Amino acid sequence: MRVIEVKDYREMSERAAAHILDYVNGMKSCTLGLATGGTPIGTYRSLVEAYRNKKVSFHHVYTVNLDEYVGLSAAHPNSYRFYMQENLFNHIDIPSEHTHIPNGMAADLAEECRRYEELIERLGGVDLQLLGIGINGHIGFNEPGTSFSSRTHLVKLTESTRSANARFFSNPEEVPTHAITMGIETIMRSREILLLAGGIKKAEILYKLFTEPVDEQIPASILQTHPNVTIIADSEALSRVKEKKVFIV
Ligand code: F6R
Repeated sequence: MRVIEVKDYREMSERAAAHILDYVNGMKSCTLGLATGGTPIGTYRSLVEAYRNKKVSFHHVYTVNLDEYVGLSAAHPNSYRFYMQENLFNHIDIPSEHTHIPNGMAADLAEECRRYEELIERLGGVDLQLLGIGINGHIGFNEPGTSFSSRTHLVKLTESTRSANARFFSNPEEVPTHAITMGIETIMRSREILLLAGGIKKAEILYKLFTEPVDEQIPASILQTHPNVTIIADSEALSRVKEKKVFIV
């Protein structure tokens, strides 16, 4: 795992966007795996700005998002489809049919998970996967205890994740109880992974990521075994790692 330490959220976002831009500009066609949440918003803002300044086109880009809440339609302001449209897709030249997010409204959710996994295969797999990390070590919505060999599946969200995400909802009760997420193996099959972490809330989990053994109780720990992971983290997120003088290469 390569670690790039940056000053703050703004620098994290700019570095991440620069990495994605280099990638997109260097490829004839590529598939990006995308995340939602608070962490990548600044990155998406920088990508939109680069598009407006004619530094990039997304015409040849395909995207697959990590996850979606069950029961929220694309028009619901808290659905991840809505988030992606608002924060990125509506402002760049990516063809809408190139953008993919699990359908949390599907009548048959198990079938939707199979369809999504097949879709990723059909696209040739994910080239570059953007990830955030939950305070309990989740990636996507793969909560502690999820099998490392999981593919896209239906999950029941833990109370810790529901309350962490309640900030986006007007009422905490409205946070859905289930979601569809790419599995850990789905994520691990990406050719390259870019994990972003910012703020003091992420300090403890980053420390665990660098020091704990690979264990399904810390889903992100599996990233230690991926051959091409870059972590861009700000000084608050790395504060505990540095305080403990953990050596990271
Ligand atoms: C989002 C996702 C989640 C988030 C994680 C961190 O698509 O899959 O794993 O990346 O919950 O969320 P934030 O960025 O809000 O701290």
